[in-house]
Amino acid sequence: MINFTFHNPTKLIFGKNQLEQLSQEVSQYGKNVLVVYGGGSIIKNGLYDNVMSELQKVNANVFELAGVEPNPRLTSVHKGVEICRQQNIDLVLAVGGGSVIDAAKAIAVGAKFDGDVWDIIIKKEKATGALPLGTVLTLAATGSEMNANSVITNWETNEKVGWNSPYSYPAFSILDPQFTVTVPEDHTVYGVVDIMSHVLESYFHHQTNTPLQDRFAESILKTVIETAPRLLENLENYEHRETILYCGTMALNGTIQMGSRGDWGSHNLEHAISAVYDIPHAGGLAIIFPHWLRYSIQERNMDRHVQLAIRVLGVDPEGKTDEEIALEGIDKLSQFWVGLGAPSRLADYDIDDSQLERLADIATKNGSFGNFKKLGKEDVISILKSAL
Ligand code: NZQ
Ligand code: ZN
Repeated sequence: MINFTFHNPTKLIFGKNQLEQLSQEVSQYGKNVLVVYGGGSIIKNGLYDNVMSELQKVNANVFELAGVEPNPRLTSVHKGVEICRQQNIDLVLAVGGGSVIDAAKAIAVGAKFDGDVWDIIIKKEKATGALPLGTVLTLAATGSEMNANSVITNWETNEKVGWNSPYSYPAFSILDPQFTVTVPEDHTVYGVVDIMSHVLESYFHHQTNTPLQDRFAESILKTVIETAPRLLENLENYEHRETILYCGTMALNGTIQMGSRGDWGSHNLEHAISAVYDIPHAGGLAIIFPHWLRYSIQERNMDRHVQLAIRVLGVDPEGKTDEEIALEGIDKLSQFWVGLGAPSRLADYDIDDSQLERLADIATKNGSFGNFKKLGKEDVISILKSAL
C-alpha cells in the first residue's frame, strides 16, 4: 500500500422517503437557495414538486438554474455563478445526475472565486472556497454525490476536463432509490458500466499488499454483475435500484481507492472522445475499456488481470497460461456489457477514423497519462483504431 489520508466530509442520507430530511438540512445554511437541475426529468417524475415543497417548509427564497446538459458545459456553470453573485445565494442544491452535480460543484466553487472558474478547472488557479452544496441524486453512476470530482466541458475549445478541490465535496447528499426508478434503460446501462469502470480503474494499479482493497472492489463488481441483469428485466424494482445506487456511491467515494493509485487512462481517453463527439460518458467507456484492458495486458503485473478474471469474471484457470486467462476475462467483461445493451465499437456512435489524431492530441495535451499503463499519442491511436 501507499500511505494515505482519508477524509470524506459528505453526509450521506440514504433510503426510501429520505427527501423529507431536505428541509432540515437546508435550514442549516440560510434562506437563499439556488436549485440546479437538468433537462426536465425531475419535473416529469414529480421530484421537482417534492423538492419545492421541502424548500417551502423553511421559507427558502428559491432561484433556479434549469437545463444543465449531460456532459455539463462551462456556459451553464457561468450562468449559475452569476446567479449566486447577484442573489447572494447561501446554498447550491443540485437535483439530478452526475452532470447536474458536477456543474453545481463548479458553480459553488466559482461563486467564491474572484475570477473565471475555468482557470480552477484547468488547474491554472486554486479554489479559494465554495458555497455549501447539497445534492439530491437521481441516477446511479458517477459517485459525484460523495466525492470532490467534477467534469466540465468547454465546448468552445473542445476540452472536457476533470478537476477537484477540497471545497467541492457536497455537504450533504440525499439518495432515495425511488427517484432512480424512472432512469430509462439506456442510462441505467451506462450507469452500470460507469460504476464498474470506476472500480476497474481503481483495481489496475502497481501497489502491492492491497488484499482488503481488492476484495472491496471485487465485491462491488460481483454485486453489480449479479444485480444489473435483474434490474434490466424490471427497471422499477426498488431493491435492485437500491443495490445499484449504493454500489455507485461506494465505487468512487474514496473507500476502495485507499492505499493505491489506480490507472484512470480509459477515463481520460473517453473524456477526449466526448469533448469532440458529445457521447454519453459510459457509452464511451463501454467501448474503450475492453480495448485498454487488452492493450495493457503485456504490462508488468499481469497478476491484476489474472486475479480479476478468476475471482470476478469466473474464468477457470485450469490448463491455461496467464495471458489466456486474462484475455478470456476481458472477453467475458465485454460480453457482459454488450449483453446489457451497451455499445462496443466507436462505429456505434458513427465515429470513424477521421479525427483519431485530434482525439489523441486532446488526450495527451498534458503529456502521457495512466498509472498502470502509460499511454502516449501512438498508444492512444492504437487503442482508438482497435475500437473503431
Ligand atoms: O437532464 P435530465 O432531464 O435530468 O435527464 C438526465 C440526462 O438526460 C437523465 N436522468 C437523470 N436522472 C433521471 C434521468 N431521467 C429519468 N429519471 C431520472 N431519475 O439521464 C441523462 C444523463 O444524466 P447525466 O447526469 O448526464 O448522467 P451521469 O450521472 O452518468 O453523469 C455523467 C457526467 O458525469 C461525468 C461524466 O463525464 C459526465 O459528464 N463524470 C463525473 C464523475 C465525478 N464527478 O466523479 C466521474 C465520472 O467518471 C464521470 O466522468
Ligand atoms: Zn466514469
